[in-house]
This record gives sequence, structure tokens and C-alpha cells, in this order.
Amino acid sequence: MSKTDSSPGFSPATPDFLSRLEQIVGGDGILTDDVALDGYGRDETEDLCFLPEAVVLPRDRRQVSQVLAWANESRVPVTPRGAGTGLSGGALPVHRGLVLSLERLDRIRSIDSDNLTAEAEAGVVTAELQRRVDEHGLLYPPDPASRETCQLGGNIAEDSAGPRCCLYGSTRRWVMGLEAVKPDGTILKTGSRNRKDVAGYNLTQLLIGSEGTLAVVTAATLRLTPRPAATLTLALPFDHLEPAAEAVCEIFRRGHSPAACELLERGAIQAVAASHPVPAQLSESEALILIELHGDDPEGLLERAAALAATAELVGGYEVLLAQEITEQRRLWEIREKVGEAVKERSLYKEADAVVPRSALADLVRQARRTAADHGLEAICYGHAGDGNLHVNLLQGDLDAEAWQTARDAAEEELFRAVVALGGTVTGEHGIGWTQRRYLPLAVGDTALETMVSIKRLFDPRGILNPGKIFVE
Ligand code: LAC
Ligand code: ZN
Repeated sequence: MSKTDSSPGFSPATPDFLSRLEQIVGGDGILTDDVALDGYGRDETEDLCFLPEAVVLPRDRRQVSQVLAWANESRVPVTPRGAGTGLSGGALPVHRGLVLSLERLDRIRSIDSDNLTAEAEAGVVTAELQRRVDEHGLLYPPDPASRETCQLGGNIAEDSAGPRCCLYGSTRRWVMGLEAVKPDGTILKTGSRNRKDVAGYNLTQLLIGSEGTLAVVTAATLRLTPRPAATLTLALPFDHLEPAAEAVCEIFRRGHSPAACELLERGAIQAVAASHPVPAQLSESEALILIELHGDDPEGLLERAAALAATAELVGGYEVLLAQEITEQRRLWEIREKVGEAVKERSLYKEADAVVPRSALADLVRQARRTAADHGLEAICYGHAGDGNLHVNLLQGDLDAEAWQTARDAAEEELFRAVVALGGTVTGEHGIGWTQRRYLPLAVGDTALETMVSIKRLFDPRGILNPGKIFVE
């Protein structure tokens, strides 16, 4: 097993260390009270909590650089954090030390409507950027479910995605360049505002999705696109889950190219329906496909919707629900957006962020059901079916803590082995982080793993930046 050299030799955040830190960020830039340590010791991953020794809140790139240089010199681990909405424990300070929150770097520096670009700092909330560019008739497409709270820096660290990424691609497609700070405090600028740029290695794309283990992103140059003139939403209920999964593949094979194509199985719909109005014809279905179409005019979209519904009917869909008004469309999408929280309300769960080639979606849902049943668990599948990416939630239900842990670990590993055998991989958008690191070797070969570890060492020879993540130590 590959190892990073990050675990041995960390130092605690001593009073001397903290007092120099205070000189850098000011008294209000450090938090050490119990409430703050607890809050910044959690993200949205299960019920995990790792307390940092201090939370540091720099105001600008210079302070980020000085904090990192000082922590690196002192060998105090640093865990970068956006809004803490991650689902693989990426922002948890598993080796204690500092949590470095980018929340105060929250400026949108510019929006360039001529070149369709924006420059924004890491702590800008994703939905806020979307609202600001919308005022210019522009769209920044990546739409993670947490977009009202998550931040661009976290999205970049995880290469976050959401329903619309089916047509538009995940965060990485919308990042042209980065401003980042390496663990020794040096500032690294990557990429440019040019639509074409092959000058040297693509460090921008290397940093995106590196989960805050190589450098701390402080700002990004983002690509924008004109907002679509018309959108339309379709809800396609099914009597059975497997035909719904097959329908997804058929929809793409026939060239319908939806902007979003999501699948929810009964458990997911029911979990939402427990506390949110869901139309009866949807709440009674066994599976639901939600589609968004983007186009130039409403009439054209109606024609496309009719053709798409006919395709779905061929594979078992019925009673299509169509929404043209924005408020009606929002109502349907709210059902989808509430799934994560609703499942959490029901039970503690472990999420497998499984991805397979689209043609294997039905195999994936069959496998999820079989694996869960074999281990006495309930599984709820939902997610970005158009991308072959389903969130398979394994629920604790009535199991006691010990039985749950055993069943969960065994079921998850079995599921991921099956997913890889189907040609898939172990995470599509939530990252490896802390909770998935033992599955990375299943997904990538030894040579790729060794190359990744070498890159980590090159950026972070002392291993202070987000230690314990991605690789098993
Ligand atoms: C979603 C989050 C869990 O798709 O990724 O709702
Ligand atoms: Zn998702």
C-alpha cells in the first residue's frame, strides 16, 4: 500500500505558534472556543467530528500565504475548508492542527460580459455568483445541491457537480485559471483568461479535484455562458426501477440531450414526501426520472419533450408531468434537491457515490439492492443518472452501532468492487476525502496511485496540507 509521509512528526499548535498566527490574521481571525472547534470539526459527512486545535480565518491571499508558510515551518497540519458541505470528510481536521477557512475571501472581483468570464474568490457562495452573473444574462452552470451555501473554493477542490452538469460538465469545465497558495506559502497562478491555452502542463486541471491536498485555492477565473432562453422540466414516473434506469440510457442513445437527467427511486421520493408536498402520481411511483431541457424557444422545447416522453413510454414510463412555468419547474426540482437532507432525517447513512457507464445503470441499481439485502441494510439510490452517477445511500435503520459498522463496511466494499467490475468508479463528485480512501486503489492502478503520491510529495514535502485524505497512510 502506498503511503504519504504526512503522518509522522506533526507538532501541536502551541501558544507561541498561535500568537504568531494572531499577528498574521489579527485577534478576530483565530477561533479557539469549544463551539467553534466543534462546528469547524464537522462537515456534512455522516456524524463525524474531528476537533481542530484552532480555526484560522484569513482575509486575503497574503494572509493565507503567511499562515501556510508559518504552519509549514512549524509542521502544524492545515485543513482547508469552504462551507463544510462536503460528503467525504475532506474538510475534517483528522490530524488536528488548523482548520483554514476561506469564508472571508468572498469577493467577486469582476464579471466580463464580452469575454464571458468572471473572477471570484474562493469563499464566494456558488449561488451568489450565479445570481450576480444572471443579472448580466449569463449562466455559471455547476449546480451542486448545496449551492445556496457551498463555496467556489470547495467546489473546485472537489470538482463538484449537480444535475445540470449532465449537459454542461462539472466544475472543472468552467475553471480557466486559478490563484492558489502552495503549502510553503508561495503563490501559484495557473491558466489564463484565454479560451485556448496549452502553455505547459495543465496545473489548473491538476489542482481541480485535488481535494485541498496540493495547494489552497484563493481565487479562480471562471468561464460563463449565455443563459438559455427557455427551459422545460419533465417528470417521468415508472412502475419499476430497472426500466427507469434503462430509459435513461435510451434517452441519450436517441439523442435527446437533456440539460439534466436525474433518477430517484421510491425510497428517495418517499423520504422527501414525508415532510414536503409531492404530487400523488409521483409519490406513488417506484422510480422517477426528472429531466430539464434547455433551448432557444418554448415551442421547440415542447416538441423535444414530446419526443422524449415517447421514448420513455417505450421503456415503461407513464403519465408524464410537464412543467413550463418557472415556479412549477422549481417545485419539481425541489423534490430532487431535498433528497439528501430527507434521507438524513430518516437514518444515519453511508453514501456510496457510485459511477458506471450509463448502459450499466440498471445493473448498478440491481447490485445496490442485492448487496444491501445481503447485509440486512436498506439502500436508497438517487442522483445524476444522465452521468451514470448514483448516490447509493446505505441506511443504518434499526442496527446497533457495531452491527451497522460491520454491515456498512462490508456492503460498501462489495458494492464498489461490483461497480468497478461494471467499468465504473468509486466517486463521481463527492471526492475520496477521508471516508473513501480505502477504495481509491480499487479504482486506479498501482502506477497511477504511485504517481499521485509523488505529485503530493512534490507540492507538499512536509505533508502538512490536508493530511489523511485521498491516500491510506
Ligand atoms: C445530491 C448531492 C448529495 O446530488 O450530491 O443531492
Ligand atoms: Zn449529487
